[in-house]
Amino acid sequence: MKRYPIAVIGGDGTGPEVVREAVKVLDATAARFNFGLDYTYFDFGGERYLRTGEVLPDTAAHELRAFPAILLGAIGHPNVKPGILEKGILLRLRFELEQYINLRPVKLFDARFCPLKDKRPEDIDFVVVRENNEGLYTGAGGFVFKGTPHEVAVQESVNTRRGVERCLRYAFDYARRRRAQQPWQGLRPDDLAAGRKAQLTLCGKTNVLTYAFDLWERAFHEIGAAGYPDIKRDYAHVDATTMWFVKNPEWFDVIVTDNMFGDIITDLGAMIQGGMGIAAGGNINPQGTSMFEPIGGSAPKYTGLGVINPLAAICAGQMLLEHLGETQAATAIENAVVGVVRGKLASLAAGKMGFSTSQVGDLVAASL
Ligand code: IPM
Ligand code: MN
Repeated sequence: MKRYPIAVIGGDGTGPEVVREAVKVLDATAARFNFGLDYTYFDFGGERYLRTGEVLPDTAAHELRAFPAILLGAIGHPNVKPGILEKGILLRLRFELEQYINLRPVKLFDARFCPLKDKRPEDIDFVVVRENNEGLYTGAGGFVFKGTPHEVAVQESVNTRRGVERCLRYAFDYARRRRAQQPWQGLRPDDLAAGRKAQLTLCGKTNVLTYAFDLWERAFHEIGAAGYPDIKRDYAHVDATTMWFVKNPEWFDVIVTDNMFGDIITDLGAMIQGGMGIAAGGNINPQGTSMFEPIGGSAPKYTGLGVINPLAAICAGQMLLEHLGETQAATAIENAVVGVVRGKLASLAAGKMGFSTSQVGDLVAASL
């Protein structure tokens, strides 16, 4: 029997509670599909920092490299100044483990939970491929004359040819792979007639960020033309992208974008798929250790109440299995989640589901 070592970081707030349910569902799935998962727990997070003064041990990334995948609950503690844990744990791991892709599926499971009028599950089904190691997130920049009336703050967006190209290639490959399982999202009849089977939208701001997105745009068309004739290349400015997420989400198939724009548009994406209760993401190093997380944060006010929705963490578990190559098992989790969302839950919001956190985990595990 195949066994996979999995690192688990429950983290802060409701993180450990939702991770418990994800592990419950993962174990039930592994039993059914005949593979094993061996968990190693790490206590990184706000509690540990307040106790020891250390945000992340210097050995952490090295230890985590021994695992093909990490399941992360949430990072963020009400008694720790914003920025310390986010930068010191989440961003540091993304960078040190070279998780250069942040993958965020935006998929509506039930029209009842969509805030948009008249949108159905078949209208909201796309994936955002966010660059995860560069852009405005590198920390490049600084202050001059800080604290004086003349102070200057510069925060630079770093876009390397290598970093942009590897992200674009991942996105083109992903769009091609996805086509095997999906309907013809985003494509019109003339595209299909011309043999285009998938669509990749570059989301940028070429009209203002004329250096950064010039590089992105050139690389996008070079790589696409040379290696991906089957994929339709599409472009949208980031501001227009947010408009179309609301107006015409059915236009999108796969979207590729930089770190900052990806951060922003995926929160909007989470809302149109039903909210933070269901939204999951993966920080992916295709050759190394990847990290999967519910994207909703630590929700401290719900900690310990058993009311938080564990489905986002369960969907992160589904992405983790997909990443390990346990495709059938991953599909089984998704189908079980869809069944529970459509058939049982009154809402996807914390405290309004009609079930407790662990009951929702039980429901998914039972319907695998
Ligand atoms: C996310 C989060 C993080 C980000 C924060 C917590 C640093 O918002 O995963 O999208 O900005 O990337
Ligand atoms: Mn974010």
